[in-house]
Amino acid sequence: TCSSSADKTVVIGLAADSGCGKSTFMRRLTSVFGGAAEPPKGGNPDSNTLISDMTTVICLDDYHSLDRTGRKEKGVTALDPRANDFDLMYEQVKAIKDGVAVDKPIYNHVSGLLDPPELIKPPKILVIEGLHPMYDERVRELLDFSIYLDISNEVKFAWKIQRDMAERGHSLESIKASIEARKPDFDAYIDPQKQYADAVIEVLPTQLIPDDNEGKVLRVRLIMKEGVKNFNPVYLFDEGSTISWIPCGRKLTCSYPGIKFTYGPDTYFGNEVSVLEMDGQFDRLDELIYVESHLSNLSTKFYGEVTQQMLKHADFPGSNNGTGFFQTIVGLKIRDLYEQIVASRAGAPVTAAKA
Ligand code: ADP
Ligand code: G6P
Repeated sequence: TCSSSADKTVVIGLAADSGCGKSTFMRRLTSVFGGAAEPPKGGNPDSNTLISDMTTVICLDDYHSLDRTGRKEKGVTALDPRANDFDLMYEQVKAIKDGVAVDKPIYNHVSGLLDPPELIKPPKILVIEGLHPMYDERVRELLDFSIYLDISNEVKFAWKIQRDMAERGHSLESIKASIEARKPDFDAYIDPQKQYADAVIEVLPTQLIPDDNEGKVLRVRLIMKEGVKNFNPVYLFDEGSTISWIPCGRKLTCSYPGIKFTYGPDTYFGNEVSVLEMDGQFDRLDELIYVESHLSNLSTKFYGEVTQQMLKHADFPGSNNGTGFFQTIVGLKIRDLYEQIVASRAGAPVTAAKA
């Protein structure tokens, strides 16, 4: 068959440890493309896939080669590459990118077993999210854009406590132990992927409150690689300058501990990057629109679109701080990247299209 290159699938990679906000980010992203993502109709109710008009999000846990029992027997964690089938991951992502539907396995998070596969048709945008989207060089090469969510240990701990202790009844000790047990493999196989990411969202404890250990107020850094095709980093006031900005003052009043932005050029794993940082949190919408109006290259389609998106999902975690703000901005940049890729293909000579 002959699929034209104009409708070839754009592939996005999203890497992070589990419990670090990937699904929240995916909900923000699919919303930017207009439409909530739903599980596939009529299939396995334990499917991890989310489908909307424009996007299909697949969870890379589906490429576990060892199920829960297999991992236990071999003494390897889900983070270990030996528990994952990168050959199949590569083949299937490549097939989808080439316009071919695949039968993707399903890892059942309830039973810990591999279920019969589900059919994944090539979407306009495929997002592969999970522990290892940038681990295998072949898979990495297929990505049109990649994102790493880098949650610092202090914050990861605070979020896990909030979820696993409050909602799942785990003890503080058991949460500590499970984070410690994952750490060696996390450091060896997950964390190093951030060097390949086109955008990194780094989440750290605030510096606005001395010795804060609550993990409620966050300092969030959006690290954007320079020179990435179809991606122009966001900037504050003057592109390439180093800026420190406290928007709270005569025109805007913020409550304690306030909001502080910094922006400027930097290097990250030897790459030239721009970094936009926000420390603190928003109390009200006027703070957000005020900040949005001072940023450039946001790839919005109308004035206030970032604020509108944030308002629409005010109930998602991180909506009052840099995590939600930057996730929304990255969502808009991905929409822009997608539109640029489609436009450049439409303008490309027909002979460039390969069957
Ligand atoms: P993942 O898909 O990576 O497992 P989720 O998006 O489901 O992560 O988030 C897991 C939990 O982490 C949420 O239920 C919430 O408790 C916490 N969390 C995620 N993102 C944020 C955030 N930006 N701010 C505060 N807590 C968050
Ligand atoms: C990670 C993986 C999951 C895995 C979980 C627990 O979060 O993303 O796929 O199920 O670890 O692994 P376990 O071996 O305890 O089932």
